[in-house]
Amino acid sequence: MRTLHRALLVLAGAVLEASQGAAGLSAAEWRSQSIYQVVTDRFARTDLSTTASCNTADQVYCGGTWQGLISKLDYIQGMGFTAVWISPVVKQVEGNSQDGSAYHGYWAQDIWALNPAFGTEADLAALAAALHARGMYLMVDIVTNHMAYMGCGTCVNYSLFNPFSSSSYFHPYCAIDYSNQTSVEVCWQGDNIVSLPDLRTEEQVIWNRWVSQLVSNYSIDGFRVDSAKHVETSFWQGFSTAAGVYLLGEVFDGDPSYVAPYQNYLNGVLDYPSYYWILRAFQSSSGSISDLVSGLNTLHGVALDLSLYGSFLENHDVARFASFTQDMAIAFTMLKDGIPIIYQGQEQHYSGGTTPNNREALWLSGYSTSSELYKWIAALNQIRARAIAQDGGYLSYSSQPIYSDSHTIAMRKGTSGYQIVGVFTNVGASSSVTVTLTSSATGFGANQALIDVMSCTAYTTDSTGALTVTLNDGLPKVLYPTARLSGSGICAGMTSTALPTSSSTAASATTMNITFNELVTTAWGDTIKLAGNISALGSWSPSSALTLSASQYSQSNPLWSVTTVLAPGTVIEYKFIKVSASGTVTWESDPNRVYTVPCATATDNARVGRCATSLSTHAHFTT
Ligand SMILES: *[C@@H]1O[C@H](CO)[C@@H](O)[C@H](O)[C@H]1NC(C)=O
Ligand SMILES: *[C@@H]1O[C@H](CO)[C@@H](O)[C@H](O)[C@H]1NC(C)=O
Ligand SMILES: *[C@@H]1O[C@H](CO)[C@@H](O)[C@H](O)[C@H]1NC(C)=O
Ligand SMILES: *[C@@H]1O[C@H](CO)[C@@H](O)[C@H](O)[C@H]1NC(C)=O
Ligand SMILES: *[C@@H]1O[C@H](CO)[C@@H](O)[C@H](O)[C@H]1NC(C)=O
Repeated sequence: MRTLHRALLVLAGAVLEASQGAAGLSAAEWRSQSIYQVVTDRFARTDLSTTASCNTADQVYCGGTWQGLISKLDYIQGMGFTAVWISPVVKQVEGNSQDGSAYHGYWAQDIWALNPAFGTEADLAALAAALHARGMYLMVDIVTNHMAYMGCGTCVNYSLFNPFSSSSYFHPYCAIDYSNQTSVEVCWQGDNIVSLPDLRTEEQVIWNRWVSQLVSNYSIDGFRVDSAKHVETSFWQGFSTAAGVYLLGEVFDGDPSYVAPYQNYLNGVLDYPSYYWILRAFQSSSGSISDLVSGLNTLHGVALDLSLYGSFLENHDVARFASFTQDMAIAFTMLKDGIPIIYQGQEQHYSGGTTPNNREALWLSGYSTSSELYKWIAALNQIRARAIAQDGGYLSYSSQPIYSDSHTIAMRKGTSGYQIVGVFTNVGASSSVTVTLTSSATGFGANQALIDVMSCTAYTTDSTGALTVTLNDGLPKVLYPTARLSGSGICAGMTSTALPTSSSTAASATTMNITFNELVTTAWGDTIKLAGNISALGSWSPSSALTLSASQYSQSNPLWSVTTVLAPGTVIEYKFIKVSASGTVTWESDPNRVYTVPCATATDNARVGRCATSLSTHAHFTT
């Protein structure tokens, strides 16, 4: 795509080349990308340590670098991302304040130099080259609104700044009155510990030269623009032309009518309005689905081009979703209108609260590619890419709620015959809901074969085209026409074989082998059993419970294991019990374990983490 883009520029000649700046990725080309957000200091170290300590509360450099990032691109690409957004690259204020150091990159001191903590000019260029070699793209975060000084707003030593080395480059100090837009633009962010001297837009000529050089020096494909609502709007047209690449503005505000007009100046904006509605709707089972529905409808009425918005659930400025609830709303944000953005750590279910706790070092996760959400995100990027490839109308399709009730919302995106229908609920991990969606809501036809690509479960609409789905464990369904998956490798094995057509919810296999592994040190004569609320598990009776085998038991790995056959979709409540030689029964402590038997085939199980057939746990006997 990059090569093609360059070729087009050459064909169109010098005029277009000049007006678009150096080759990068145009706004239109960003629509189909999927972005992974990296805080450089916290993603990967050059030594690739997975143990180097990083206490977020300290707010100091933890050692992440561009070279470290280059080494871990497989991890990012493995989730299906096509672009990486990195934190600001320029030289920062040095040292520590009560609010910590500038490890995050938003406290610039010298825009003509790079932050040596992250690497050299050659390292940054190598990052762009490594991404391009994979067919991926580089987005760099930039701050044009302000510089930073460790000290109060009236005590700034301007001679430290390059190039803005005197007070004449800045608006006079004043604290922001957020009810007054002029004040938002000319007054200063920051506080008395670290003030953020606010630049005058007259300095635009310097910024224009800087940004076009930055793009060509490092082959940057797009920018995320920090503090966009604090910059006079007149700044952007010239800057955008000089940059020549997609600009995604941070307009940190939940009001869709406030955010929307910024698209007159910047190609895209982060979808903060949806972020707030999604957070409130899904953070608990009492969240408001109706506010989400009305919000999305309002957004559609005012947004200029939602396909260029950035759709996110988390970033380095907001508390992680998992700090509110164990559940997730990742599928909703990745499948709605806009360019999906996943913030590093979402895939590892990081749960840090507000800044700085939400900036955990990713290396401490060990970069697991088998974590449930890593696979979940991969599956979502995969189906979105498939939809884009098959349906020329997918990206411009305006996705709106097609069904809602007090706990559940369904969304459709894509041209008829190619549409993705997502069904999402806030009931949480231990509950299930069943909804019926009409043909006029989904656009699906009568007796149409569909697959929920998250669990690789087959569905068929009824003779009226209606679809009934049950969401177990609070997990969403992402339904896509089976016919459009053929040859894609998605839910492989389900698309070529005959699918059930008589039942609306039947899975393609009727039983699953489920292995329960339990690590528990036992004495001679003890037996571990599995008792649960279904007859196969003895209906809670210790004498009829399933007996685990100790054939693989050793002192270093005290494994008890049993494999049993259960039907997909079965929900069980169970506990491990220990039966001593004398017959004394010890039950695990409360609560009961709950498990839903997942997808249908072994191939599918390999693809989506939810479908793991082997449950490995540690016993929680209180004795
Ligand atoms: C301001 O910074 C410059 C450059 O580091 C330094 O030489 C000068 O002494 C500082 N002025 C004050 C008043 O601290
Ligand atoms: C808004 O803020 C600007 C800049 O500080 C100030 O000059 C102006 O008087 C303020 N307007 C109102 C209505 O307060
Ligand atoms: C781009 O590279 C040139 C040549 O090395 C250098 O003079 C200039 O400062 C660089 N500009 C930026 C913004 O990095
Ligand atoms: C379950 O395991 C048995 C024995 O290995 C095997 O014959 C059977 O095909 C398996 N069933 C499924 C649904 O995988
Ligand atoms: C077992 O427990 C689960 C979860 O509470 C419940 O959904 C299911 O209906 C129960 N099964 C039986 C047979 O009682």
